[in-house]
Amino acid sequence: MTVTQERTSRTGDKLSGRVAFVTGGTRGIGAAICRSMAAQGADVAAGYSGNDEAAERFRKQFCGDFPDQGFSVHKGDIANADDCRRTIAEVIEKHGRLDVLVNNAGITVDRTVLKMTDDDWRRVIDVNLSGAFYLSQAALKHMLERGSGRIVMISSVIGEMGGIGQSNYASAKAGLLGLTKTLAREAAMQVQRSGKTDGLGITVNAVTPGYTATEMLGTVPDKVLEGLKAKIPIGRLGEPEEVARVVHFLAADASGYITGQVWGVNGGMDM
Ligand SMILES: NC(=O)c1ccc[n+]([C@@H]2O[C@H](COP(=O)([O-])OP(=O)(O)OC[C@H]3O[C@@H](n4cnc5c(N)ncnc54)[C@H](OP(=O)(O)O)[C@@H]3O)[C@@H](O)[C@H]2O)c1
Repeated sequence: MTVTQERTSRTGDKLSGRVAFVTGGTRGIGAAICRSMAAQGADVAAGYSGNDEAAERFRKQFCGDFPDQGFSVHKGDIANADDCRRTIAEVIEKHGRLDVLVNNAGITVDRTVLKMTDDDWRRVIDVNLSGAFYLSQAALKHMLERGSGRIVMISSVIGEMGGIGQSNYASAKAGLLGLTKTLAREAAMQVQRSGKTDGLGITVNAVTPGYTATEMLGTVPDKVLEGLKAKIPIGRLGEPEEVARVVHFLAADASGYITGQVWGVNGGMDM
């Protein structure tokens, strides 16, 4: 199988019996994460905000490819704290548990600092950073009751390197790294204090993709894209599946000794 082909069936058992909620799971990197989770045996809940057509298309495709895995979609705006708490509760109600939360949903509203409006700034921070906080807070409560769970943040290489026209996006994505490390420390401390652990513990990690071939790059002019590719040592864009395989690895039971870490999947951009 080449890296660009999508997984269409079970390939392993690393996530058997687990339930994973992937925000922004109906398109792009999130859809690839849902598929890689299901390929490892997880039941999957996919979040989205407004594109019902894409969600329905993905549901049909997913259920055709993974008929044995449980699946649900959950609509809500992750910038809204109530929507975050509602969707986490819906997932637990529907599937009976939540083992893995992947904070993947994100947006860009690019403008140079001098042209950025207050709304451009706030919206990107609200969706890309505050959303991950609200969702993690609600999921952590449930995970602490059991003493086990996995949270994975999809940050960006832009959060590590900055990007022209992306002060809002870079700040939100860098903020996710601080959130990851703080949640990782608090979760480990609280699991130890409670003594309530099945041995798997609760881990929190971040993945920082580089430029990845999804609709998010659709607005970038070809000439600019060529310039971006020239800065990638591997010499090409990443594929969503290349990000997804790191996420399912971090989500597995066996990854319990990895927490508070940042995993770059960027073709070597930030060496
Ligand atoms: N593509 C890249 O080059 C790249 C590089 C580094 C990091 N990333 C990060 O990777 C993640 C996924 O990116 P992508 O390229 O796969 O994006 P995408 O193709 O644009 O898909 C975005 C997904 O997020 C959902 N979403 C957007 N705003 C939301 C909101 N307010 N509430 C709930 N869901 C919302 C969308 O739902 P609808 O379908 O309803 O709109 C969609 O399912 C993002 O966090 C992005 O920042 C991407």
